Amino acid sequence: MIIGIPKEIMHGEGRVSAIPETVAKLKADGFDVLVEKSAGAGAFFSDAEYAAAGATLLDDVAELYKKADVILKVKEPQFNEAKGLHEVDMMHAGQYLITFIHPASPVNHEMVKKMAAQGVISLTLDGVPRISRAQNLDALTSMSTCAGYKGILMAANDLAKFIPQIFCAVGMIKPCNALVIGTGVAGLQALATAKRLGAVTYAADIRPAAAEQAMSLGAKIVDLGVPAEEAVGAGGYANALSEATLAKEREALKPVIKDMDIIFCSALVPSKLAPVLITDEMVASMKPGSVIVDISIDQGGNCEATVPGETAVKHQVTIEGIKNIPGMLPTSSTWMFAQNIYNLVKYLTKDGKIALDMNDEIVKGVMTTIDGKIVHQGALEAMKA
Ligand code: NAI
Repeated sequence: MIIGIPKEIMHGEGRVSAIPETVAKLKADGFDVLVEKSAGAGAFFSDAEYAAAGATLLDDVAELYKKADVILKVKEPQFNEAKGLHEVDMMHAGQYLITFIHPASPVNHEMVKKMAAQGVISLTLDGVPRISRAQNLDALTSMSTCAGYKGILMAANDLAKFIPQIFCAVGMIKPCNALVIGTGVAGLQALATAKRLGAVTYAADIRPAAAEQAMSLGAKIVDLGVPAEEAVGAGGYANALSEATLAKEREALKPVIKDMDIIFCSALVPSKLAPVLITDEMVASMKPGSVIVDISIDQGGNCEATVPGETAVKHQVTIEGIKNIPGMLPTSSTWMFAQNIYNLVKYLTKDGKIALDMNDEIVKGVMTTIDGKIVHQGALEAMKA
């Protein structure tokens, strides 16, 4: 089988789906690997290193898409300006695509339909279930770790104040308050990073287990008033809440939000649209110069005022809606991502070929399009809505 590694084309994206180390492992497993020239430049991996690992370097990405049986990417397919073609248009029927697709997100619906029509067999990395045996192939967890860390550094950079308490000759400056909403993988890393920088940290999550973990990192817990039996569903994941319960949650957050300098939003129910927890009116209640980092933007965002993919200023509050935060930490995030995707390919392969066991929990979670159809439940539900 031939594996193709294109250069990522999203603006500002430095990551790549394979590093020389994983190319060497794929070669040892019997695959041929095609790498687009300069694909690793953004993460500081050179063409010479890929060639030394056994990859064939190609100038023309269209040729790579034509020859490869499996395409490994970081971000969902999009329009390639240089080629004047959508990446999906360069793919062919029966070709595998493994990447983050975020198929439930409305902005991706047309692209997912296009993949199905084209006969592409697509697997989305955001569908890997959080079970022990999937841990080493869970790229979302790796990327969430990066986003939690880097997202707080972005907030620190945007903030008009010091984060830690500062004593100086003219007096004392109070430490800033940082609230993390949704203390899953990204949120816990954000809490730990904010704490290291000296913030007074607050945490809000509807799952009691998540709130407990946040407390163990020194955060003060905001009581959202959502009963555990309503909040926690199958497998210990959060449930999507009714609009009435979300309205109550927003009321519980209101008095806390106005005192925060940094709010980090990472509340999500897997494969669903992100719940809207901060309204425009709540943004207006914040202190001028405060910052919101809304990393759930790929699923629509937790804050009503977030502009997808942009840094916006509303009511004198900076709101980060940047989508590829791990791409701003390209060497570490690429190293983690490349190991995860290599482990997934290995997991899916039998006798040198991809063999999908449709009854397997991991395969069921990642399958997005196959046999000309969309099979991802979250995407189908979101499309109906
Ligand atoms: P996770 O599933 O580990 O955590 C989400 C948390 O949100 C869970 O603890 C859940 O209980 C909580 N939650 C769900 N509904 C809630 C509600 N109504 N109120 C409060 N808490 C609620 O997810 P993870 O891995 O931490 O990712 C979080 C988000 O960050 C996802 O949307 C993910 O796609 C996004 N992400 C964005 C990146 C970027 O560059 N923008 C990079 C990596 C992740």
